[in-house]
Amino acid sequence: MDGNGRWATQRGLPRTEGHKAGADAVMRVLEYCQKYDVRYLTLYAFSTENWKRSVTEVTALMNLLFDFLEKKGQELIKNRIRLRVIGEIERLPWPARRKLQSFIQATEQFTDYNLTLALSYGGRSEIVGAATKLAEQVKAGTLEPSAITEEVFASALQTADIPDPDLIMRTAGEQRLSNFLLWQCSYAEFLFIDTLWPDFAEQDFVGALNAFSQRQRRYGKA
Ligand code: IPE
Ligand code: MG
Repeated sequence: MDGNGRWATQRGLPRTEGHKAGADAVMRVLEYCQKYDVRYLTLYAFSTENWKRSVTEVTALMNLLFDFLEKKGQELIKNRIRLRVIGEIERLPWPARRKLQSFIQATEQFTDYNLTLALSYGGRSEIVGAATKLAEQVKAGTLEPSAITEEVFASALQTADIPDPDLIMRTAGEQRLSNFLLWQCSYAEFLFIDTLWPDFAEQDFVGALNAFSQRQRRYGKA
C-alpha cells in the first residue's frame, strides 16, 4: 500500500490524514475480496524499514493500527475473516499487539477469507528467521541437513499456513518489491498501478482481477 503521504500532501493535509484515509481503503478492499471471492489478502502495512520514519509518524501509524482493530475488529468476526500477522510482532507497542492477538484468536476458526497483515515485516529478515529455526533443529539433532527441501524451508517461514501469492500489486506508481514476501513471490504476477492507496476503488480491484486473468502462467513450462 503506497501513496498515503502523497495523497495527504496533495490536499494540504498532514501525512497522518493520508494514513487514516488508507485505513478506510483497507476496509473497502476487504469488502471487494468477499464480493469477488479473493480468499487470501496480505497487506504490507508496515515494513522493518518504516521504523526509520519520524517518531510522530510511527506513533500515528501504531495508534491507527490500534484504532483500526478497535473499530473494525468486530467486522472481521462478523464477516468471518481470519486474521494473521507476519513480521516482528514483538516490536509493536503492547496495546496494538494485545488487540492483534485477541482478534487472531477470535477469528482462528474461520477458513474462507483470510487477511494477513505484514507489520514490522521484512522478507530478508523472515528468511533469516527460517534459516535460524532450521539450524537450531539440525543442532538439536532433530533435522538432517539433507532433509531441508523447499517445502521444509517454506514451512519454517511465517507464511507457512497460507499459499504463495498469485498476484502482487503495488499502488502509487512505485515499481519495486521493497522487501515484501521475497521467498513467496517466485511465481507471483506483478501489477503496478498509479492510483494512490487512499483512492483505491472497486474499479482498481476489478482492473487487477482482469489484468491477472489475461496473464499466462507457465511456471517455467513451454
Ligand atoms: C504507505 O504510504 C503507507 C505506509 C508505508 C505505512 P506512504 O506513507 O509510503 O506514502 P508516500 O509514499 O509518502 O506517498
Ligand atoms: Mg511510500
